[in-house]
Amino acid sequence: MRSPSYSSPSIADAVIPSAAPQALPTEPRFHQRHVETTDTVRKELLDGLTKPQADISPKFLYDELGSSLFTAITLLDEYYPTRCENQIFSRHSPDIVAHAGPVCSLIDLGAGDCAKAERLLAHMRPSHYVPIDISVDYLKTAVKRIADRYPGLDITALGMDFFNDLSIPDEVHADQRAFFYPGSSIGNLPPDHAADLLANIRRQCADGALIIGVDLVKPREILEPAYDDAVGVTAAFNLNLLRHVNAILGSDFNLAQWQHVACFNEARSRMEMHLRARVATTVRWAGGERRFEEGERIHTEDSYKYRPHAFKAMLARAGFGQIRYWTDEREWFAVFCARA
Ligand code: AVI
Repeated sequence: MRSPSYSSPSIADAVIPSAAPQALPTEPRFHQRHVETTDTVRKELLDGLTKPQADISPKFLYDELGSSLFTAITLLDEYYPTRCENQIFSRHSPDIVAHAGPVCSLIDLGAGDCAKAERLLAHMRPSHYVPIDISVDYLKTAVKRIADRYPGLDITALGMDFFNDLSIPDEVHADQRAFFYPGSSIGNLPPDHAADLLANIRRQCADGALIIGVDLVKPREILEPAYDDAVGVTAAFNLNLLRHVNAILGSDFNLAQWQHVACFNEARSRMEMHLRARVATTVRWAGGERRFEEGERIHTEDSYKYRPHAFKAMLARAGFGQIRYWTDEREWFAVFCARA
């Protein structure tokens, strides 16, 4: 999934000097390790589209327009997670960083524009920064900004699909790694995959830490508008997925025939996004087609909401200890820091 990108004010701007002001500039290194062929992507899409209950992976939400729409979502009145998480980091970064312990490498999962990690760098002062996203191309502008600002900081940017492969290269020292996974993107994974990812992270951080943003369970009246805002940005974000699929498959989804649906599935503790056919329609692509009846849905995203004790237990099962968390003042969102 292309990492959603955020723009948030940097608390580092005003007061804190660079991590290693005296050191000589080091050239950032870029490694693209994840390569996906068009055939694999088409197969994945067609497998989902031709299931009795059709689905499309949320990773297809993030083409160029989708990523911009996501940035717009983070500015909406109804979409509280970004603001809540920013509040937690503004208030508690020194405590969070102190709890993480000494850090040699900061490994930023789904780094995007690296803005969130940049806020931690000044407090944490690692010697190595390792932003990871599906493509290193997404990281280039941000890495240049960080390299200019922290001339002595070693930077290795990785293009990796960390959901499937989290092998960190040897050039990143094995000791004192802090993994950073903000934004509550862990919620976009089914809990068993989320547990696997946490266990993989734990295996990669011998004596380090994990700092992770988690969205918390709250009433439907708050959750549903956050995923179905009055301006219609989330609807556009969801519908744009069909435009993206048309571009990949050469299919003929007519966006006007589809409606954005967002609902809280309380039993599964997750917000769900679907696209519902407004009319019966047949979607065609080279070599195939799929008929959708009126009202039939394509499932496009889940966003799991956790209770603090449940997420704490998940971290403990993954092998983490010394687990602490901080919330915003309304206790809508939590940032966990756990030691390996
Ligand atoms: C990226 N992720 C954490 C967002 C979420 O809240 O699940 C994606 C999103 N989908 C709709 N609005 C935002």
